[in-house]
Amino acid sequence: AEPLRIALAGLGTVGAGVIRLIETNAALIARRAGRPITITAISARDRSKKRGLDLTPYAWEDDMIVLGERPDVDVVVELVGGSDGPALACARTTIEAGKAFVTANKAMIAHHGLELAAKAEAAKVALKFEAAVAGGIPVIKGLREGAAANAFERVYGILNGTCNFILSTMEDTGRDFADVLAEAQARGYAEADPTFDIEGTDAAHKLAILAAIAFGARIDFAAVDTTGIARLLAADIAQADSLGYVIRLIGVAEPDWAEGTCRLFQRVQPHLVPFDHPLAHVDGATNAVVAEGNFSGRLLFQGAGAGDGPTASAVVADLIDIARGEIGAPFSVPVAELEALPPAPSGHRRGRAY
Ligand code: NAP
Ligand code: HSE
Repeated sequence: AEPLRIALAGLGTVGAGVIRLIETNAALIARRAGRPITITAISARDRSKKRGLDLTPYAWEDDMIVLGERPDVDVVVELVGGSDGPALACARTTIEAGKAFVTANKAMIAHHGLELAAKAEAAKVALKFEAAVAGGIPVIKGLREGAAANAFERVYGILNGTCNFILSTMEDTGRDFADVLAEAQARGYAEADPTFDIEGTDAAHKLAILAAIAFGARIDFAAVDTTGIARLLAADIAQADSLGYVIRLIGVAEPDWAEGTCRLFQRVQPHLVPFDHPLAHVDGATNAVVAEGNFSGRLLFQGAGAGDGPTASAVVADLIDIARGEIGAPFSVPVAELEALPPAPSGHRRGRAY
């Protein structure tokens, strides 16, 4: 069978993970995808950087934006980051060239996902971003496909590996915030600018994407009421512990009906979680997403939320879908059918316990 030929933009933590996964599991991937998945072209900022990988089999492209226009490329995989700039230009040129596009870039999807999905629908090509939410956990597929028959009542969970690593490590070891953040960066969990992690923005990007898929709503990132963990002190963690709680950064999205109007409540906030709650035992860079379906009941998706291997696993799963010929609607339904749900009024909560 003809191989699916991919171009990789970005050879950092996730990009290198994707190369290692495609090389290591090539035979298994080809069997499951029905054809081989091969890398033809690559791009990053610095061609001379030592990456611990043999990149000589792949054609180097200085400008990632034109990868999708190459005749030897069927799919572009963007693993660079940034909501705008070259990542967005690359997405647009790729889709406009009639090629599929895969990304782990939640910032770009949270800000421009609807535009890109509309373009992909018009061009009849796949736009996939499983790795953008909760790293290696197939939660987008889980909500969009496995639990597709449900009306969701609420989606919530731990959506940022860096924050969870910081909180749970400080809790276990009493180490200093800055020191643990530096370790999260060294392990490849953090964003290039880690303020996106610790200010809650990254979790808010992911929550906005999940809410769009779960509730059939247009993405409304600006409506996510966001507080991060940057101002938490070791003393706060110790105080919570003495009262029987851990602190976790949790994102919650739920439809909120009042006077015949459905509004969407979206919030990212550090929460006190009692020791006997399942989310209290989510440690390290693990993520956990709970989705409450009206027929499925409570579904819990848990696994590695950051890092090279888990994130590469989600990226390559998208590539396998594309190799099988699956296009699908990125947000479950066509973009024109997504509802514009107004934000729930600030401070308004139904107050159901998690
Ligand atoms: P990273 O390690 O910082 O790697 C970024 C890569 O992009 C580098 O190879 C860099 O090139 C390249 N790059 C930067 N600007 C470029 C440009 N203008 N043109 C071409 N290449 C450029 O980042 P990462 O952690 O792999 O994350 C990549 C994406 O995945 C981000 O959107 C991130 O949010 C997302 N993500 C990350 C994780 C994770 O655990 N790390 C998990 C899920 C999603 P050089 O190497 O030459 O500098
Ligand atoms: N910086 C992100 C995190 C990477 O720590 O969760 C995974 O999306």
